[in-house]
Amino acid sequence: MSPRLKSGERGGQAQVWWRRDGLQYDGDRLIFGGDEVERLAFSAGTPLYLYHSDRIGDNIRRLGAALDGHPLDYRLFYAMKSNRFMPLLSYLKAFGGCGVDVCSPGELMLARQTGFRESEISFTGTAVSDSDLDCLQRHPGVWVNCDSLSSIRRLGSRCPGREIGLRINPGLGIGYATNELLRYSGSKTTKFGIYRQQFESALELAASSDLVVKGLHFHTGCGYLDPQLPVFDEILAACSWFADRVSGLEHVNVGGGLGVPLTAEDAPLDLERWCELLAEHLGQRGLQIWIEPGEYIVKDAGLLVLQVNTVEEKESTTFVGVDGGFNVNMAPAFYRLPLEVVPCRLHGARASAAGGEVTIAGNINEALDILAENVHLPTVKEGDFLAFLNAGGYGASMSSDHCVRGYFLEYLL
Ligand SMILES: Cc1ncc(COP(=O)(O)O)c(C=O)c1O
Repeated sequence: MSPRLKSGERGGQAQVWWRRDGLQYDGDRLIFGGDEVERLAFSAGTPLYLYHSDRIGDNIRRLGAALDGHPLDYRLFYAMKSNRFMPLLSYLKAFGGCGVDVCSPGELMLARQTGFRESEISFTGTAVSDSDLDCLQRHPGVWVNCDSLSSIRRLGSRCPGREIGLRINPGLGIGYATNELLRYSGSKTTKFGIYRQQFESALELAASSDLVVKGLHFHTGCGYLDPQLPVFDEILAACSWFADRVSGLEHVNVGGGLGVPLTAEDAPLDLERWCELLAEHLGQRGLQIWIEPGEYIVKDAGLLVLQVNTVEEKESTTFVGVDGGFNVNMAPAFYRLPLEVVPCRLHGARASAAGGEVTIAGNINEALDILAENVHLPTVKEGDFLAFLNAGGYGASMSSDHCVRGYFLEYLL
Protein backbone atom coordinates (compact mmCIF):
# COMPACT_ATOMS: atom_id res chain seq x y z
CA MET A 1 0.00 0.00 0.00
CA SER A 2 1.51 3.32 -0.98
CA PRO A 3 2.14 5.84 1.84
CA ARG A 4 -0.44 8.29 0.59
CA LEU A 5 -1.39 9.68 3.96
CA LYS A 6 1.24 11.41 6.05
CA SER A 7 -0.66 11.40 9.31
CA GLY A 8 -4.24 11.09 10.44
CA GLU A 9 -7.23 13.11 9.36
CA ARG A 10 -8.82 16.12 10.95
CA GLY A 11 -12.39 17.22 10.39
CA GLY A 12 -12.73 15.03 7.33
CA GLN A 13 -9.81 16.79 5.61
CA ALA A 14 -7.29 14.19 4.65
CA GLN A 15 -3.72 15.10 5.56
CA VAL A 16 -2.43 14.06 2.20
CA TRP A 17 1.22 14.89 1.48
CA TRP A 18 0.48 17.03 -1.57
CA ARG A 19 -2.06 19.31 0.13
CA ARG A 20 -1.35 23.04 -0.13
CA ASP A 21 -3.22 26.30 -0.61
CA GLY A 22 -5.02 25.97 -3.90
CA LEU A 23 -4.97 22.14 -3.95
CA GLN A 24 -6.99 20.36 -1.29
CA TYR A 25 -10.22 18.57 -0.54
CA ASP A 26 -13.19 20.60 0.58
CA GLY A 27 -15.33 17.90 2.17
CA ASP A 28 -15.44 15.21 -0.49
CA ARG A 29 -14.52 17.48 -3.45
CA LEU A 30 -11.06 18.12 -4.84
CA ILE A 31 -10.46 21.85 -5.26
CA PHE A 32 -7.74 23.25 -7.53
CA GLY A 33 -7.13 26.94 -7.99
CA GLY A 34 -10.47 27.74 -6.38
CA ASP A 35 -12.47 25.48 -8.71
CA GLU A 36 -14.14 22.14 -8.11
CA VAL A 37 -12.20 19.80 -10.36
CA GLU A 38 -15.13 17.44 -10.93
CA ARG A 39 -17.36 20.31 -12.05
CA LEU A 40 -14.74 21.47 -14.55
CA ALA A 41 -14.36 17.94 -15.85
CA PHE A 42 -18.14 17.62 -16.30
CA SER A 43 -18.39 20.84 -18.22
CA ALA A 44 -15.24 20.57 -20.33
CA GLY A 45 -15.00 16.82 -20.80
CA THR A 46 -11.88 14.75 -20.43
CA PRO A 47 -8.94 14.39 -20.91
CA LEU A 48 -8.53 17.82 -19.34
CA TYR A 49 -5.36 19.59 -18.26
CA LEU A 50 -5.78 22.27 -15.59
CA TYR A 51 -3.03 24.77 -14.81
CA HIS A 52 -3.12 27.09 -11.81
CA SER A 53 -1.55 30.42 -12.73
CA ASP A 54 -1.08 31.54 -9.11
CA ARG A 55 1.03 28.48 -8.43
CA ILE A 56 3.20 29.23 -11.46
CA GLY A 57 3.70 32.75 -10.14
CA ASP A 58 4.52 31.42 -6.66
CA ASN A 59 7.11 29.06 -8.10
CA ILE A 60 8.85 31.87 -9.96
CA ARG A 61 8.72 34.15 -6.92
CA ARG A 62 10.15 31.45 -4.62
CA LEU A 63 13.05 30.81 -6.99
CA GLY A 64 13.71 34.54 -7.41
CA ALA A 65 13.57 35.17 -3.65
CA ALA A 66 16.13 32.41 -3.00
CA LEU A 67 18.49 33.81 -5.62
CA ASP A 68 17.97 37.38 -4.41
CA GLY A 69 19.10 36.25 -0.96
CA HIS A 70 22.63 35.78 -2.33
CA PRO A 71 24.98 38.22 -4.01
CA LEU A 72 24.28 36.62 -7.38
CA ASP A 73 23.71 38.26 -10.71
CA TYR A 74 21.27 36.01 -12.58
CA ARG A 75 18.83 35.69 -15.44
CA LEU A 76 15.90 33.31 -15.53
CA PHE A 77 14.60 31.65 -18.70
CA TYR A 78 11.53 29.41 -18.68
CA ALA A 79 12.16 26.17 -20.62
CA MET A 80 9.24 26.25 -23.03
CA LYS A 81 9.52 22.57 -23.89
CA SER A 82 7.92 21.75 -20.54
CA ASN A 83 4.61 23.45 -21.41
CA ARG A 84 3.82 25.66 -24.40
CA PHE A 85 0.11 26.30 -23.80
CA MET A 86 -0.28 29.81 -25.19
CA PRO A 87 -2.36 31.27 -22.33
CA LEU A 88 0.28 29.97 -19.91
CA LEU A 89 3.07 31.56 -21.96
CA SER A 90 1.14 34.82 -22.03
CA TYR A 91 0.72 34.64 -18.27
CA LEU A 92 4.49 34.18 -17.88
CA LYS A 93 5.20 37.10 -20.19
CA ALA A 94 2.82 39.34 -18.25
CA PHE A 95 4.12 38.10 -14.89
CA GLY A 96 7.60 39.23 -15.88
CA GLY A 97 10.96 38.33 -14.44
CA CYS A 98 11.81 35.60 -16.90
CA GLY A 99 12.62 35.08 -20.52
CA VAL A 100 12.24 31.79 -22.37
CA ASP A 101 14.57 29.04 -23.49
CA VAL A 102 13.51 27.44 -26.76
CA CYS A 103 14.86 24.40 -28.58
CA SER A 104 13.38 24.70 -32.07
CA PRO A 105 12.27 27.31 -34.59
CA GLY A 106 8.67 26.40 -33.75
CA GLU A 107 9.20 27.26 -30.10
CA LEU A 108 11.06 30.42 -31.12
CA MET A 109 8.03 31.52 -33.14
CA LEU A 110 5.71 30.80 -30.21
CA ALA A 111 7.92 32.90 -27.96
CA ARG A 112 7.77 35.81 -30.42
CA GLN A 113 4.00 35.38 -30.86
CA THR A 114 3.60 35.58 -27.10
CA GLY A 115 5.47 38.86 -27.02
CA PHE A 116 8.91 37.82 -25.79
CA ARG A 117 11.55 40.01 -27.39
CA GLU A 118 14.56 38.46 -29.10
CA SER A 119 16.72 39.65 -26.21
CA GLU A 120 14.56 37.59 -23.83
CA ILE A 121 15.00 34.35 -25.76
CA SER A 122 17.78 31.78 -25.66
CA PHE A 123 17.98 28.86 -28.07
CA THR A 124 19.45 25.55 -26.97
CA GLY A 125 18.87 22.97 -29.66
CA THR A 126 20.39 19.64 -30.58
CA ALA A 127 20.93 18.07 -34.02
CA VAL A 128 20.38 21.57 -35.36
CA SER A 129 19.69 21.68 -39.11
CA ASP A 130 20.69 24.30 -41.66
CA SER A 131 17.13 25.57 -41.77
CA ASP A 132 17.15 25.89 -37.97
CA LEU A 133 20.32 27.98 -38.29
CA ASP A 134 18.77 30.08 -41.07
CA CYS A 135 15.96 30.87 -38.64
CA LEU A 136 18.48 31.90 -35.98
CA GLN A 137 20.23 34.09 -38.54
CA ARG A 138 16.93 35.92 -39.11
CA HIS A 139 16.71 36.50 -35.35
CA PRO A 140 20.05 38.09 -34.56
CA GLY A 141 19.04 39.12 -31.04
CA VAL A 142 18.30 35.56 -29.88
CA TRP A 143 21.00 33.99 -27.75
CA VAL A 144 22.30 30.70 -29.19
CA ASN A 145 23.96 27.89 -27.27
CA CYS A 146 25.87 25.60 -29.66
CA ASP A 147 26.16 21.97 -28.61
CA SER A 148 28.42 20.62 -31.36
CA LEU A 149 31.37 21.63 -33.49
CA SER A 150 29.18 21.21 -36.55
CA SER A 151 26.69 23.81 -35.33
CA ILE A 152 29.52 26.23 -34.46
CA ARG A 153 30.91 25.94 -37.99
CA ARG A 154 27.53 26.35 -39.69
CA LEU A 155 26.35 29.19 -37.43
CA GLY A 156 29.67 30.99 -37.92
CA SER A 157 29.29 30.90 -41.69
CA ARG A 158 25.88 32.59 -41.33
CA CYS A 159 26.40 34.99 -38.44
CA PRO A 160 30.00 36.23 -38.23
CA GLY A 161 30.64 38.34 -35.14
CA ARG A 162 27.76 36.82 -33.14
CA GLU A 163 28.22 36.19 -29.43
CA ILE A 164 27.35 32.62 -28.43
CA GLY A 165 27.29 30.09 -25.62
CA LEU A 166 28.85 26.64 -25.79
CA ARG A 167 26.88 23.77 -24.33
CA ILE A 168 29.32 21.54 -22.48
CA ASN A 169 29.06 17.97 -21.30
CA PRO A 170 30.77 17.62 -17.92
CA GLY A 171 30.49 13.83 -17.99
CA LEU A 172 28.27 13.78 -14.91
CA GLY A 173 24.50 13.41 -14.83
CA ILE A 174 21.72 14.23 -12.42
CA GLY A 175 18.01 13.50 -12.24
CA TYR A 176 15.04 12.41 -10.15
CA ALA A 177 16.24 9.85 -7.58
CA THR A 178 18.25 7.11 -9.29
CA ASN A 179 16.37 7.40 -12.57
CA GLU A 180 18.92 6.98 -15.36
CA LEU A 181 16.34 7.84 -18.01
CA LEU A 182 16.39 11.49 -16.98
CA ARG A 183 20.16 12.00 -17.17
CA TYR A 184 21.53 13.99 -20.07
CA SER A 185 25.15 13.17 -19.33
CA GLY A 186 27.06 10.70 -17.22
CA SER A 187 29.04 7.51 -17.63
CA LYS A 188 27.30 6.73 -20.93
CA THR A 189 28.28 9.03 -23.80
CA THR A 190 25.33 11.23 -24.79
CA LYS A 191 24.52 13.50 -27.71
CA PHE A 192 24.38 16.59 -25.50
CA GLY A 193 27.13 19.17 -25.38
CA ILE A 194 30.83 19.34 -26.04
CA TYR A 195 33.10 17.07 -24.01
CA ARG A 196 36.46 18.07 -22.54
CA GLN A 197 38.38 16.28 -25.30
CA GLN A 198 36.83 18.51 -27.97
CA PHE A 199 36.54 21.71 -26.02
CA GLU A 200 39.85 23.31 -27.16
CA SER A 201 38.96 22.47 -30.78
CA ALA A 202 35.51 24.00 -30.27
CA LEU A 203 37.04 27.22 -28.96
CA GLU A 204 39.48 27.38 -31.89
CA LEU A 205 36.68 26.70 -34.35
CA ALA A 206 34.53 29.42 -32.80
CA ALA A 207 37.40 31.91 -33.05
CA SER A 208 38.18 30.99 -36.66
CA SER A 209 34.45 31.17 -37.50
CA ASP A 210 34.33 34.71 -36.08
CA LEU A 211 32.02 33.74 -33.20
CA VAL A 212 32.65 35.15 -29.74
CA VAL A 213 32.17 32.73 -26.86
CA LYS A 214 30.69 34.63 -23.93
CA GLY A 215 28.67 31.88 -22.26
CA LEU A 216 28.89 28.27 -21.14
CA HIS A 217 25.83 26.10 -20.81
CA PHE A 218 25.08 22.74 -19.26
CA HIS A 219 21.88 20.83 -18.61
CA THR A 220 22.69 17.44 -17.17
CA GLY A 221 19.29 16.02 -16.24
CA CYS A 222 15.80 16.52 -14.88
CA GLY A 223 13.99 16.31 -11.56
CA TYR A 224 16.81 16.53 -9.03
CA LEU A 225 16.06 17.09 -5.35
CA ASP A 226 18.21 17.36 -2.22
CA PRO A 227 19.77 13.87 -2.36
CA GLN A 228 21.21 14.80 -5.75
CA LEU A 229 22.73 18.15 -4.69
CA PRO A 230 26.17 16.65 -3.99
CA VAL A 231 26.28 15.63 -7.67
CA PHE A 232 25.20 19.13 -8.67
CA ASP A 233 28.17 20.37 -6.61
CA GLU A 234 30.49 18.06 -8.60
CA ILE A 235 28.98 19.22 -11.88
CA LEU A 236 29.63 22.85 -10.98
CA ALA A 237 33.20 21.94 -10.01
CA ALA A 238 33.65 20.16 -13.36
CA CYS A 239 32.36 23.27 -15.11
CA SER A 240 35.32 25.26 -13.72
CA TRP A 241 37.69 23.33 -15.97
CA PHE A 242 35.78 24.66 -18.99
CA ALA A 243 35.35 28.17 -17.58
CA ASP A 244 39.11 28.46 -16.97
CA ARG A 245 39.69 28.06 -20.71
CA VAL A 246 37.37 30.78 -21.97
CA SER A 247 38.78 34.27 -21.86
CA GLY A 248 36.09 36.92 -21.68
CA LEU A 249 33.50 34.52 -20.29
CA GLU A 250 30.48 36.43 -18.97
CA HIS A 251 27.94 33.86 -17.86
CA VAL A 252 27.31 30.21 -17.11
CA ASN A 253 23.90 28.71 -17.81
CA VAL A 254 23.28 25.92 -15.30
CA GLY A 255 20.28 24.60 -17.23
CA GLY A 256 17.08 23.39 -15.64
CA GLY A 257 16.50 20.11 -13.85
CA LEU A 258 15.24 21.42 -10.50
CA GLY A 259 12.65 18.92 -9.34
CA VAL A 260 9.46 18.93 -7.32
CA PRO A 261 8.26 16.23 -4.88
CA LEU A 262 6.50 13.41 -6.71
CA THR A 263 5.81 11.09 -3.77
CA ALA A 264 5.22 11.35 -0.03
CA GLU A 265 8.88 10.49 0.53
CA ASP A 266 10.22 13.46 -1.45
CA ALA A 267 11.04 16.77 0.24
CA PRO A 268 10.97 20.06 -1.67
CA LEU A 269 14.33 21.09 -3.10
CA ASP A 270 16.43 23.07 -0.63
CA LEU A 271 16.79 26.23 -2.73
CA GLU A 272 19.00 27.81 -0.09
CA ARG A 273 21.62 25.06 -0.45
CA TRP A 274 21.26 25.15 -4.23
CA CYS A 275 21.96 28.90 -4.25
CA GLU A 276 24.94 28.43 -1.92
CA LEU A 277 26.45 26.01 -4.44
CA LEU A 278 25.94 28.50 -7.26
CA ALA A 279 27.50 31.25 -5.19
CA GLU A 280 30.49 29.10 -4.19
CA HIS A 281 31.32 27.96 -7.70
CA LEU A 282 30.20 30.78 -9.98
CA GLY A 283 29.42 33.86 -7.89
CA GLN A 284 33.00 34.01 -6.67
CA ARG A 285 34.24 34.17 -10.26
CA GLY A 286 32.06 37.19 -10.92
CA LEU A 287 30.08 35.32 -13.57
CA GLN A 288 26.44 35.96 -14.28
CA ILE A 289 24.29 32.86 -13.79
CA TRP A 290 21.58 31.88 -16.23
CA ILE A 291 18.97 29.31 -15.24
CA GLU A 292 16.40 27.65 -17.49
CA PRO A 293 13.96 25.57 -15.45
CA GLY A 294 10.76 24.13 -16.85
CA GLU A 295 9.54 21.53 -14.40
CA TYR A 296 10.14 23.66 -11.30
CA ILE A 297 7.90 26.40 -12.70
CA VAL A 298 4.99 24.44 -14.13
CA LYS A 299 4.99 20.79 -13.07
CA ASP A 300 3.19 21.07 -9.73
CA ALA A 301 0.94 23.78 -11.15
CA GLY A 302 -0.92 21.33 -13.36
CA LEU A 303 -3.35 18.42 -13.09
CA LEU A 304 -4.54 15.96 -15.68
CA VAL A 305 -8.15 14.87 -15.20
CA LEU A 306 -9.34 11.59 -16.70
CA GLN A 307 -12.61 9.71 -16.37
CA VAL A 308 -12.85 6.13 -15.18
CA ASN A 309 -14.65 3.93 -17.67
CA THR A 310 -13.79 0.46 -16.38
CA VAL A 311 -13.23 -1.10 -12.96
CA GLU A 312 -12.51 -4.77 -13.28
CA GLU A 313 -10.56 -7.51 -11.56
CA LYS A 314 -8.24 -9.61 -13.71
CA GLU A 315 -6.69 -12.45 -11.77
CA SER A 316 -5.62 -10.74 -8.56
CA THR A 317 -5.25 -7.22 -10.01
CA THR A 318 -7.97 -4.56 -9.98
CA PHE A 319 -7.64 -2.55 -13.17
CA VAL A 320 -9.07 0.95 -13.38
CA GLY A 321 -9.39 1.95 -17.02
CA VAL A 322 -9.40 5.67 -17.90
CA ASP A 323 -10.02 7.76 -21.02
CA GLY A 324 -6.41 8.79 -21.65
CA GLY A 325 -3.07 7.08 -21.68
CA PHE A 326 0.61 7.63 -22.42
CA ASN A 327 -0.42 9.66 -25.42
CA VAL A 328 -1.61 12.45 -23.08
CA ASN A 329 0.95 11.88 -20.33
CA MET A 330 4.03 9.82 -20.97
CA ALA A 331 5.82 10.32 -17.65
CA PRO A 332 5.02 6.89 -16.12
CA ALA A 333 5.35 4.84 -19.31
CA PHE A 334 8.40 6.44 -20.88
CA TYR A 335 10.32 7.80 -17.91
CA ARG A 336 9.07 5.43 -15.20
CA LEU A 337 8.12 8.45 -13.10
CA PRO A 338 5.47 8.24 -10.37
CA LEU A 339 2.26 10.12 -11.17
CA GLU A 340 0.24 10.64 -8.00
CA VAL A 341 -3.44 9.97 -8.60
CA VAL A 342 -6.35 11.13 -6.45
CA PRO A 343 -10.14 10.98 -6.84
CA CYS A 344 -11.90 14.22 -7.74
CA ARG A 345 -14.75 13.20 -5.43
CA LEU A 346 -14.46 10.93 -2.42
CA HIS A 347 -17.10 8.27 -1.78
CA GLY A 348 -17.27 8.94 1.93
CA ALA A 349 -15.63 12.11 3.08
CA ARG A 350 -12.15 10.72 3.67
CA ALA A 351 -9.25 10.16 1.32
CA SER A 352 -8.32 7.05 3.27
CA ALA A 353 -11.80 5.56 3.01
CA ALA A 354 -11.97 1.91 2.02
CA GLY A 355 -10.78 1.32 -1.53
CA GLY A 356 -7.70 -0.72 -2.13
CA GLU A 357 -4.79 -1.41 -4.40
CA VAL A 358 -5.39 -0.79 -8.08
CA THR A 359 -3.53 -0.47 -11.36
CA ILE A 360 -4.60 2.43 -13.54
CA ALA A 361 -4.50 1.62 -17.23
CA GLY A 362 -4.85 4.02 -20.15
CA ASN A 363 -6.84 3.59 -23.36
CA ILE A 364 -3.91 2.99 -25.70
CA ASN A 365 -3.44 -0.48 -27.11
CA GLU A 366 0.12 -0.88 -25.92
CA ALA A 367 1.39 -3.00 -23.05
CA LEU A 368 3.32 -0.11 -21.51
CA ASP A 369 0.22 2.06 -21.23
CA ILE A 370 -0.01 1.96 -17.44
CA LEU A 371 -0.39 5.26 -15.57
CA ALA A 372 0.04 3.90 -12.04
CA GLU A 373 0.74 0.39 -10.85
CA ASN A 374 -0.36 -1.11 -7.54
CA VAL A 375 -1.34 2.17 -5.92
CA HIS A 376 -3.81 2.57 -3.10
CA LEU A 377 -6.95 4.47 -4.10
CA PRO A 378 -10.06 5.20 -2.09
CA THR A 379 -13.15 3.56 -3.55
CA VAL A 380 -13.43 4.34 -7.25
CA LYS A 381 -16.37 3.63 -9.55
CA GLU A 382 -16.99 3.76 -13.28
CA GLY A 383 -17.88 7.32 -14.24
CA ASP A 384 -15.68 8.89 -11.53
CA PHE A 385 -13.02 11.44 -12.38
CA LEU A 386 -9.41 11.03 -11.30
CA ALA A 387 -6.82 13.80 -11.04
CA PHE A 388 -3.19 13.04 -11.81
CA LEU A 389 -1.00 15.51 -9.92
CA ASN A 390 2.25 17.09 -11.07
CA ALA A 391 1.14 16.99 -14.67
CA GLY A 392 1.81 20.64 -15.53
CA GLY A 393 5.13 19.94 -17.23
CA TYR A 394 6.01 17.47 -19.99
CA GLY A 395 2.40 16.30 -20.22
CA ALA A 396 0.51 18.15 -22.92
CA SER A 397 3.75 19.30 -24.58
CA MET A 398 4.84 15.69 -25.19
CA SER A 399 1.45 14.33 -26.17
CA SER A 400 0.86 12.34 -29.34
CA ASP A 401 -2.09 11.23 -31.42
CA HIS A 402 -1.26 7.55 -31.15
CA CYS A 403 -4.38 5.46 -31.82
CA VAL A 404 -6.06 8.75 -32.81
CA ARG A 405 -6.73 9.37 -29.17
CA GLY A 406 -4.74 12.59 -28.95
CA TYR A 407 -7.63 14.90 -28.09
CA PHE A 408 -7.55 16.86 -24.82
CA LEU A 409 -8.41 20.31 -23.54
CA GLU A 410 -6.32 22.69 -21.45
CA TYR A 411 -7.61 25.36 -19.04
CA LEU A 412 -5.59 28.01 -17.30
CA LEU A 413 -7.14 28.78 -13.93
C1 LIG B 1 18.61 22.39 -22.55
C2 LIG B 1 17.52 22.26 -21.56
N1 LIG B 1 17.32 23.26 -20.69
C3 LIG B 1 16.32 23.20 -19.77
C4 LIG B 1 15.49 22.11 -19.71
C5 LIG B 1 14.39 22.11 -18.69
O1 LIG B 1 14.54 21.09 -17.79
P1 LIG B 1 13.57 20.97 -16.54
O2 LIG B 1 12.20 21.04 -17.04
O3 LIG B 1 13.92 19.66 -15.94
O4 LIG B 1 13.89 22.12 -15.62
C6 LIG B 1 15.68 21.04 -20.59
C7 LIG B 1 14.80 19.86 -20.51
O5 LIG B 1 14.90 18.91 -21.18
C8 LIG B 1 16.72 21.12 -21.54
O6 LIG B 1 16.93 20.14 -22.42
